[in-house]
Amino acid sequence: MISIALDGPAGAGKSTIAKALAKKLGFIYVDTGALYRATALKFIEKGIDTNLDCDIDSILKTVKIDIRFIGGAQHVFLNDADVNDKIRTSNVSMMASAVSAKPPVRAFLLDMQRQLAKDNNVLMDGRDIGTVVLPDATLKFFVTASAEERARRRVIDLEAIGEKADYNSVLEDIKTRDYNDSHREIAPLKPAADSIVFDTTGNTLEQSVEKLYEIINERLK
Ligand code: DC
Repeated sequence: MISIALDGPAGAGKSTIAKALAKKLGFIYVDTGALYRATALKFIEKGIDTNLDCDIDSILKTVKIDIRFIGGAQHVFLNDADVNDKIRTSNVSMMASAVSAKPPVRAFLLDMQRQLAKDNNVLMDGRDIGTVVLPDATLKFFVTASAEERARRRVIDLEAIGEKADYNSVLEDIKTRDYNDSHREIAPLKPAADSIVFDTTGNTLEQSVEKLYEIINERLK
């Protein structure tokens, strides 16, 4: 099976790019952030805040996550409920960043991610796919963009789901999440030594997809 890892910070355009690329390649697109978000939703439902002052293992025992592909699109299920739409709020973003720093949470989601890559040609997007989840991935990309550009894009996404978004607070959230994600002890966000770093600042989505598609075809020859 061919596996392509696409890692990078929040809002670099990874998921939109990965979706379009997977379609062009005929691969399954796996959004691993959605797994952390669905797990985070359970913690929120239990009334826990981002300090995570709780028994993480016992909460994880109440969490069942599945991924199903509906019309080619990934849907994540939390205890058999489709939570795909619920997990996109800012609240869930911050909680996902908090829970993803916890080793038991990462261990809990690791096998599922590896299994998906065993059974399918995948384009997997996340933070540690090239470094931890699929260290032997066929190809690895680290997709990034300036924090300001990422904040502008995030404001547009949030407005599209009807959430009021203030550019400055979105920018602050992005910087906080970058810091959390790249400074945590376990599986921090960083380019794998053998990854191709790709900066999307100033690119349209189409330009990024075309360029990456070219690189992939060249490398997979
Ligand atoms: O990609 P995203 O914004 O949906 O990810 C949500 C959070 O999950 C993000 O703050 C970092 C974390 N995450 C992670 O630690 N490892 C992954 N492979 C994917 C996401």
